[in-house]
Amino acid sequence: MTRRILIAGNWKMNTRSASAVELAKAVVAKVGENPKVDVALCPPSVYLAAVADVVAGTPVGLGSQNVYAADDGAYTGEVNASMLTDVGCRYVILGHSERRAILGETDAMISEKLHAALAGNLVPIVCVGETLEDREAGNTEKVVETQIRGSLAGLDEVRAAGIVIAYEPVWAIGTGKTASPEQAEEVHAFLRKLLGEIFSADVADQIVIQYGGSVKPGNAKELLGQPNIDGALVGGAALKAEDFIGIIEPA
Ligand code: G3P
Repeated sequence: MTRRILIAGNWKMNTRSASAVELAKAVVAKVGENPKVDVALCPPSVYLAAVADVVAGTPVGLGSQNVYAADDGAYTGEVNASMLTDVGCRYVILGHSERRAILGETDAMISEKLHAALAGNLVPIVCVGETLEDREAGNTEKVVETQIRGSLAGLDEVRAAGIVIAYEPVWAIGTGKTASPEQAEEVHAFLRKLLGEIFSADVADQIVIQYGGSVKPGNAKELLGQPNIDGALVGGAALKAEDFIGIIEPA
């Protein structure tokens, strides 16, 4: 089974309208008409419409960094799946470690978001990953298994085949301390096996599993060359077009 590679830029809480459009234009210009891999940009929600105008009609997809699991109504400050598809989103990042740590998002909350995203025809990118403390205590597999089982609770095999998982070791995010290809592949292989136990080997084989955590042009090729690494969720390097392209090109 040859899975598509997905390289997504998580811009987090960065850019303004002018720089968001400029960055998106620079990426679209470099990606060209027939990229070998799938590419997505995930700007702050206030700039989704502006970036949507830039990527419309190009192979570059648009993603949100979050979604609220409810239909329209009295949810001040929130944005639901229908609004995200309305503005042109194809993807939504769920359960990023920063939202788990800062905003207290739980696996149960992420599961609700997952089902709302799928019902709204969005491709969920579900983030899991251990802290340095977890890893040093030998609990990496236990932590990511708990996150996977909790975040994917109630998901059926058919829909599972179309989701994306992003393994993002918290200790590698924004630190410049990238997981080695061997470290990353070890967890990705564990996740693939776990997904096979939860769903089926065939479904697990279809699920794209991205790596995230200090992916740069200098380490992307080796990481993406690992058998169970099907792309990257990129933070800091996504904010510089030349760096983001430097990750996409060798993929
Ligand atoms: O979601 C991707 C992000 O957490 C990775 O950040 O800056 O380490 O590439 P960074």
